[in-house]
Amino acid sequence: MSRDYAVMGFPVSHSLSPEIHSIFASQEKIKLHYEKIEVSSGSFSDAADAFFGQGGLGLNVTVPFKVDAYAYASRLNDLAEQAGAVNTLARGEGGLVSGHNTDGLGLVRDLEARHGWALNGARLIILGAGGATRGVIVPLLARGVEEIIIANRTVDKAEALVGLFSTLMPGAKLSVCSLADAAECEADVVINGTSLGLSSGDITLAPELVRGRHCYDMSYGNNARFAHWASHQGAISAVDGLGMLIEQAAESFAIWHQVRPDTNLAFAKIREQIG
Ligand code: ATR
Repeated sequence: MSRDYAVMGFPVSHSLSPEIHSIFASQEKIKLHYEKIEVSSGSFSDAADAFFGQGGLGLNVTVPFKVDAYAYASRLNDLAEQAGAVNTLARGEGGLVSGHNTDGLGLVRDLEARHGWALNGARLIILGAGGATRGVIVPLLARGVEEIIIANRTVDKAEALVGLFSTLMPGAKLSVCSLADAAECEADVVINGTSLGLSSGDITLAPELVRGRHCYDMSYGNNARFAHWASHQGAISAVDGLGMLIEQAAESFAIWHQVRPDTNLAFAKIREQIG
């Protein structure tokens, strides 16, 4: 059986990618086989070798293997290089596997095209200094975001990230704040890039952090606890990251099939499914 496309992760059973890609494929009248492959820790490159060795054409890579996929790729596009992580692998001419990162483009597209939030000139607070935040900084700045403040529980990690991107993008307005002080910072939009939605404890952020601001949660569905909390604390609007998931998938689809699908149908169908 052909194993054209797949998503690899651990765990991976919850992944919505096969469904999203199959909606795109039927819209574009493309036949594809897309499966989920669960990979154990330390086995990513063996699993990817086996996949591409059997004729696989494209892989999506999710937690916790995005950095392994970065190391695996024979060449990287700029966004993947800057993000230090890869979520899309594509087998090209001569069997060379290229690595891409479509997460940041997915976020930008969702914010601007679906939610109509203006990024040009905006001041953002991003909560978290892990992989999710790292993957979106350059695409946001490239859309004309005026300033990004990275607020993290562990301030040292935010400082390291700001140091890295200040070197990569001299002149970009990037700064650091503790989570506790983030409410005091001037901003139009607050984006949650932490994994706090995966834990069950109370959210102890100050309500002033989100009151009167647009809030976006890169988590979606039941894990979008930040968006849910923000909507009850007086945020102007609070949305989850389902649209980012769909849009990053559309960017991957475009890399593999040279056509970017319309995303509205997939968004509506998956929204209906996950609530
Ligand atoms: P990812 O790749 O999903 O970003 P990660 O690299 O492990 O995952 O980063 C998780 C981020 O969520 C970190 O910024 C982490 O804060 P610390 O650097 O202080 O660990 C943040 N995070 C996780 N749980 C959190 C919580 N309950 N409250 C606030 N921040 C949290």
